[in-house]
Amino acid sequence: MSTPALIAGLSVLGVVVVVLLLPILIACLIRFKNHFFTWGRYTLDEDLSGKLAVVTGATAGLGLEISRELARRGAHLVWGARNMNKAGKLKEAFEVEYPGCQIDILKLDLTSLSSAGKFAADVAAKFESAGVDLLFCNAGMGTKDETARTDDGYEIHFGVNYLAHFVIIDRLMKTLLKSST
Ligand SMILES: NC(=O)c1ccc[n+]([C@@H]2O[C@H](COP(=O)([O-])OP(=O)(O)OC[C@H]3O[C@@H](n4cnc5c(N)ncnc54)[C@H](OP(=O)(O)O)[C@@H]3O)[C@@H](O)[C@H]2O)c1
Repeated sequence: MSTPALIAGLSVLGVVVVVLLLPILIACLIRFKNHFFTWGRYTLDEDLSGKLAVVTGATAGLGLEISRELARRGAHLVWGARNMNKAGKLKEAFEVEYPGCQIDILKLDLTSLSSAGKFAADVAAKFESAGVDLLFCNAGMGTKDETARTDDGYEIHFGVNYLAHFVIIDRLMKTLLKSST
């Protein structure tokens, strides 16, 4: 075989090896990284039996997924929900999915600071002795309507996503501090 033909043959072989082996090598490196390093990944699997977790906005999206994980680990859930019917149906589904799970649903409409205050007062009254271990201020909304306001006259995002949750945190602070978590 002539030298140019040999070089051409080796080049083709090289390309084939790179094309076939490179993805395998990359896949191995990713597996190695995921196995030995956990950057940015949640890895705890703590048992939450006996812990009380309050979640706002548990009826959809992230709050629903947070609630699933909490229920899976045995936490007692307290949901703050504006739609009691929707929350009730989800509670029934949770009781099938996580047998023995404990869920309390309390009315909460974050467009009203008095509703936020009442929700916090109800949680504190009902779970005073147990104490709240975890509080997920998750509920929130987004709208392009710049004129939208809460019942108290605040810009809707500020009122719902921040101010109402601030009221809840403020009123539950004592109960939260009682927790050993
Ligand atoms: N998803 C994202 O990419 C993303 C990115 C950045 C930040 N966030 C924030 O993460 C949080 C959850 O987002 P998501 O995508 O899971 O939202 P989502 O699917 O729209 O769910 C929002 C939850 O909040 C509840 N909620 C909305 N307004 C309420 C009110 N006035 N009073 C009481 N409850 C109310 C909803 O109740 P109903 O079921 O009754 O509607 C629902 O349970 C929000 O605060 C959002 O701003 C999300």
